[in-house]
Amino acid sequence: MNDQQIKDLLEQMTIEEKVAQLIQLATPFFKGAAGQITGPLEEMALTEETVQNCGSVLGASGAKEIINIQKEHLAENRLGIPLLMMADIIHGFKTIFPVPLAIGCSWDLELAEKSAEIAAKEAAVSGIHVTFAPMVDLVRDPRWGRVNESTGEDPYLNSLFARAFVRGFQGTDLQNEKNRVAACVKHFAAYGAPEGGRDYNTVNMSERQLRESYLPAYKAAIDEGCEVVMTAFNTVDGVPATGNKDLMRSILREEWGFDGVVISDWGAVKELIPHGVAADEAEAAQKAILAGLDIEMMTTCYVHHLKQLIEQEIVEEALLDEAVLRILTLKNKLGLFENPYRGADEQQEEEIILSEEHRQVARDLAAKSCVLLKNEAVLPLKTNQKLALIGPFAQNGDILGPWSWLGSKEETINLHHALNQKIDPANLFISQGCDFEMGTEEQLEEAVGAARKADVILLAVGEHTHMSGEAGSRADIRLPQAQLELIAKLKILQKPIVVVLFNGRPLDLHGVIDKADALLEAWFPGTEGGVAIADLLFGDVNPSGKLAMSIPYSVGQIPVYYNCFNTGRPKDASESQDFVSKYIDIPNDPLFPFGFGLSYTTFSYSEFSLSSEFMTASQPITVSVKVKNTGEVAGEEVVQLYVRDISGDVVRPLMELKGFQKISLQPGETKEVTFTIKEEQLRYYHSNLEFASDAGRFVAYVGPNSKDVTEISFELQK
Ligand code: BGC
Repeated sequence: MNDQQIKDLLEQMTIEEKVAQLIQLATPFFKGAAGQITGPLEEMALTEETVQNCGSVLGASGAKEIINIQKEHLAENRLGIPLLMMADIIHGFKTIFPVPLAIGCSWDLELAEKSAEIAAKEAAVSGIHVTFAPMVDLVRDPRWGRVNESTGEDPYLNSLFARAFVRGFQGTDLQNEKNRVAACVKHFAAYGAPEGGRDYNTVNMSERQLRESYLPAYKAAIDEGCEVVMTAFNTVDGVPATGNKDLMRSILREEWGFDGVVISDWGAVKELIPHGVAADEAEAAQKAILAGLDIEMMTTCYVHHLKQLIEQEIVEEALLDEAVLRILTLKNKLGLFENPYRGADEQQEEEIILSEEHRQVARDLAAKSCVLLKNEAVLPLKTNQKLALIGPFAQNGDILGPWSWLGSKEETINLHHALNQKIDPANLFISQGCDFEMGTEEQLEEAVGAARKADVILLAVGEHTHMSGEAGSRADIRLPQAQLELIAKLKILQKPIVVVLFNGRPLDLHGVIDKADALLEAWFPGTEGGVAIADLLFGDVNPSGKLAMSIPYSVGQIPVYYNCFNTGRPKDASESQDFVSKYIDIPNDPLFPFGFGLSYTTFSYSEFSLSSEFMTASQPITVSVKVKNTGEVAGEEVVQLYVRDISGDVVRPLMELKGFQKISLQPGETKEVTFTIKEEQLRYYHSNLEFASDAGRFVAYVGPNSKDVTEISFELQK
């Protein structure tokens, strides 16, 4: 259809039909769904007619069911308007990739894009049109269970990943590429900054900080052409995001020129009532539509009240028309008026889902996402060593992480399966050691027995999937006590201990790091996780992941992140001082900083130089550094460039990531890495919210992480 035909269609719609386009309901509400239920229809006071005119479906998957739902729908829908099928395909459909925080640690944008492309392909053949991803919320508080859904604490890195994911999901031509899906960037805005790390909690920050740190990744997704935006549950400066006109109309639409669909998060329109900005559902509907929200997910404020609000002239019908037009336009962009079933194809589902090609990408990405945090000459393991594989994750396929609802444990390669392929099973002694949160004396004894037979103890420990993710905030982010006891007990044997950690957040590693001779942070690595980890443990693949989020020394420091301020009383690393900004009982620094990760080889950095000490807006400078592989095996290094503005209009962070390159080096090989620094990279939000740079001194840092850097200074002249 062309734009005019879409407008003509809108003209023909009754007000009830228009309002119904704005509601999104879960699959069971629809005829043709496998487990259709009618109870909730009454509970939500929905009529059959509303469902027949409804605009979109949440959470359907599978070509057969989706084709059925669409067919039944079109048979009853007066104007033949197809349903949009939306679902959470976050880090894979059935081929599950590592959780996004792990993908962030790969610093590999191409593979990240590829993973989204595969997720889109598997989702599209199963009939899905829109995925509720990428989630690009910047995160600084690992107590928050959803940090695993984000690519971490840096606005620049997050923005690059946001773009890569959008490209991967959407491709360049949604109308014709039936194996792509529209992306929905979320959760707009600043959902990643809840007070105390408690999910759904208040977010409080200045507009300046919001713009500087939190908004860039959403903006990057929009600039990449992301079709849909989801609002956040939280307040932003006292106003819930879902009823926030400044966010949706002023920033998103007017400033950024976004003309796509905005959808609420689950139930968030009605939540304007408990938030305390709406007295009832009618007022919630009014606030949301005035603020610019198009689709209401899973509550019924629009359906029950919009018509009346329009008749009472509290809301203009033009606002409703605008919202409906955006939804129809998206359906049209996806080609649904011509082919309402789009990519849904049972045969293709059989052929491509979980294909070897997809699994291979999952394996590569998992290997690149793990971060080697410690290694005291125990890794890589040798295939003739006797291994005791101990811990709740030893034989557990539950390594897919939150938002892997279509993934299955049975199709996942766990550590035990993978190790069986690497070494003689007779040299592998398995014991669970304890459950995730509980353990018995017998389990401990059995683990000790297994460990006694081995040369090396391989401990597969961590958090159960449900300990992170949505509503999975934790105040104590150490390993559960039972697992700490297991580690302590095995330590007594004085055998080398290699810990493989599975988890959805940076943990407080007390009781682990001191006892481990080597520690591999595997996050939730996905369907091929076991193989990827085994490849890393035996050195078939050299670890190259670098932390995209700091690992705290202890929960008391949180938030702890690399791009913080210096304060007026910075602590001097060299001595103990009083009346400076510090804790008297713990260090200021995190246990492992942003950008950190070890390899089985070593790299040296030298000849760090600038093309000129002075730069201007029209004359950028280049920074170059030589990086040499000084070890014995080939390896990949993420060379990182940071910049600090020495004197700003407002305080500037101690350092900010401005560039990175992932290079691969053979033993003894040296490569020169160059970065260009342009004036626009030095801009920031001033106190009057002007986005500009200042003339003056800057420091550039390069290094293998945000801590071990060498520096050089330069000047921006105006
Ligand atoms: C989550 C969203 C998700 C939505 C739909 C909500 O509870 O916050 O991230 O996309 O549910 O499943």
